[in-house]
Amino acid sequence: KVIALVTGGFTGESVISLKSAEVIDKNLDRDRFDVYKVIISAQSWFHEDEGGVKHEVNKNDFSIEIQGKVIRFDGIFIGLHGSPGEDGKLQGYFDMIGIPYTTCDAPTSAITMNKGYTKAIVNGVADLNIAHSVQLFSNGKDTAAQILAQLDLPLFVKPNNGGSSIGMSKVKTAEELPEALEKAFKEDTQVLVEEFIKGREFTIGVYHGKEGVKVLPATEIVTSKEFFDFEAKYTSGVTEEITPGRMSDEEKNRVERVVLEAYKKLNCRGVVRIDYILEEGTGKFFFIEVNTVPGQTENSIIPQQVRAIGRTIKDFYTELIEVAIV
Ligand code: DAL
Ligand code: MG
Repeated sequence: KVIALVTGGFTGESVISLKSAEVIDKNLDRDRFDVYKVIISAQSWFHEDEGGVKHEVNKNDFSIEIQGKVIRFDGIFIGLHGSPGEDGKLQGYFDMIGIPYTTCDAPTSAITMNKGYTKAIVNGVADLNIAHSVQLFSNGKDTAAQILAQLDLPLFVKPNNGGSSIGMSKVKTAEELPEALEKAFKEDTQVLVEEFIKGREFTIGVYHGKEGVKVLPATEIVTSKEFFDFEAKYTSGVTEEITPGRMSDEEKNRVERVVLEAYKKLNCRGVVRIDYILEEGTGKFFFIEVNTVPGQTENSIIPQQVRAIGRTIKDFYTELIEVAIV
């Protein structure tokens, strides 16, 4: 089978995408798959061969031509965070030209890229709580005061369609809110402001394998930073990631049930990672978001969770491809 590993992208997460794709590239089984890495940027879509020669993708059918030979792909492994690999744009394109891919479909990708819309859908999942929040579509002079009238500090301010915590702030005082809104609106036309939930943060992989939908062991995130920001996510040593995270058997069973239900309700496919808080004192789960193209870098969590169940990343990626493509 001939597989294109698609990476790059249009957002600030493209640097992470390239790192994820390096790990994916190293771990795709070359005895099973012929792999071509394709980089998508705002300027061009191309494959660079070993000699450093760039081959432009033919956008009519996503083929490339190398030395007169046309290479067509049986499937796409998407290793592209943010737009256009995680928000449904490429998914819609690949549906149009009839090439299967490893991620959620176009509508699910589009919805889950938007944290506010995702919350609206998972809201009905039993035992999954949603922090109070306000979804903003523009920023104005009175916005901060209106938010403070509705929500209690501290707050998280996030670009609604963002990833990797880019443009995100934790706001502890009313005075900090306008600047945080401005920062988030630089990244996005929509911003989500959420109440802070005091507790421990976890994240858990859920994937569609050969034997149906399965849950990976949850990872607990203990960061020395104010929150799990970009630096905490991608710098070794800044954050302690404990897999499996510290939960009672009851909590573990409950979260597994809840995330399986959320995966089903959102009609997910492939591997996703669901972030949540276990609230201090109440033991309630609060949904943060779902990442439908979760990071696969050396510092990323899904690879840690796969290793924790005694599997190799290579074997795991093969399974994803077999379910989605072969
Ligand atoms: N958005 C980053 C890549 C993640 O969720 O892992
Ligand atoms: Mg995310």
